[in-house]
Amino acid sequence: MAVDAFDLVIFGGTGDLAARKLIPAMYHRHCAGQLPRNGRIIALGRKDLERDGYLAAISDKSRALITERYLDDAQWSSFVERIDYRQLDADSTEDFEHLADYLQDAAERIRIFYLSTSPDLFAGICQKLRSCKLALPNSRVVLEKPLGRDLKSADEINACVETVFSEQQIYRIDHYLGKEAVQNLMALRFGNSIFEPLWRRGQIRHVQITLAERLGVEGRGEFYDATGTLRDMVQNHLMQLLCIVAMEPPITMDADNVRDEKLKVLHSLQPFTPQSVLSDTVRGQYRGGEVDGERVAAYPDEPGIAAGSMTETYVALKARINNWRWSGVPFYLRTGKRMHAQVGEVVIDFESLPHSIYPASTDTDGINRLYIRLQPHESIELHLMAKQAGDHNVLKPVKLDLDLVGEGDRHLDAYERLLMDVVRGNQTLFVRRDELNAAWEYVEPIIKTWGALDRAPDAYEAGTPGPDSASELVRRDGNRWIEDV
Ligand code: BG6
Repeated sequence: MAVDAFDLVIFGGTGDLAARKLIPAMYHRHCAGQLPRNGRIIALGRKDLERDGYLAAISDKSRALITERYLDDAQWSSFVERIDYRQLDADSTEDFEHLADYLQDAAERIRIFYLSTSPDLFAGICQKLRSCKLALPNSRVVLEKPLGRDLKSADEINACVETVFSEQQIYRIDHYLGKEAVQNLMALRFGNSIFEPLWRRGQIRHVQITLAERLGVEGRGEFYDATGTLRDMVQNHLMQLLCIVAMEPPITMDADNVRDEKLKVLHSLQPFTPQSVLSDTVRGQYRGGEVDGERVAAYPDEPGIAAGSMTETYVALKARINNWRWSGVPFYLRTGKRMHAQVGEVVIDFESLPHSIYPASTDTDGINRLYIRLQPHESIELHLMAKQAGDHNVLKPVKLDLDLVGEGDRHLDAYERLLMDVVRGNQTLFVRRDELNAAWEYVEPIIKTWGALDRAPDAYEAGTPGPDSASELVRRDGNRWIEDV
């Protein structure tokens, strides 16, 4: 599909996200020949830099994240021709006026304002875009997470942004929705008929969604300590994954049809009460330990963390969806820093056999599982039982590889897909305001109940799968986390 001329204007252009994600993503699309000749990238930042200085500042970081076989000096040189840098202070109306002069020659282009800054600045930036007549009907605004700290602050930001841009111009990004495996999960569910009758209570015992990271807070101590895992990962990434697993087939893949179905899931979630927060959620914080053979510090000893911090670095919870498809099927969600593995996966655990005709020594419990892996490698696997070769009737577990991307094909990074979707004006993989609000509404009782607790988060040793209380959470229902199986 041909792409119109565009200006991608990045607020926070000197930040980590721009250097590590946005610039490499656009480079890959440039190499794929998807960018029109006159597609430009204008990075904005407070630093007083010339264009060359900016390119020098990001070059190493960005090039390190480019797939090796696409790294080519000639391509890189032709790509950076697209990039310019402008100094801008988000509080300075004068700087916005200069930006307006700079962009003026191309008012008819698609203009994308990518706000990769603190959310406190979103409202002010949008208002200045309007007062400097930069917000035109063909402009789009991309809002990075976290969008607010709670329902009220998220709503205030959105209300302000919506005085400048319509919902059809707002792209709230959740990069998990752009991952290849998430697209594959949708293809598996909605591009085949065989899974549909199995995708429900009676056939599925439980669902586990794990986003485990070996990384710690990585120089983001202050931000992280003020944010915590519930806001950083659960309210957005985990909730969106849950929606994709649990949603009904949308009428079409159009943005509002998909988002309507996700919203219904969020509205069907059983709200937490102070009691169920205590019984069905786990809040953890890592102690020192060993990760990848190296000693790592305890969370409170990391730079930027307040003394006696109660901020969680791990969350596990049991979600219940009150509708015909999922009533009684627990969805266990967990995520944390400094865990045993770098793993992102959804595991669908199907019901066990009603009766086994095989020798008692054959363990037929929990044999049918579907693994949708988001990292470290994106893949989909169905685990089944097959007969072992030989004259005995003995079964063995086998894996059916359902990965839809061929050997050697390159999986697009989530930001590549999502940025191109913004350029093309496709909102399907972006979060609508009502979804965002519903996700905040769901986690708010957890924030409130934890905040009122006079109790430190449960400790877990760095390099392990999390606190014992998280194992207990699933064991109570007769289930186990996948690595305990
Ligand atoms: C971000 C969080 O949204 O997602 C980070 O702010 C986290 O804390 C990151 O590390 C994980 O993303 P990915 O794609 O590396 O799993």
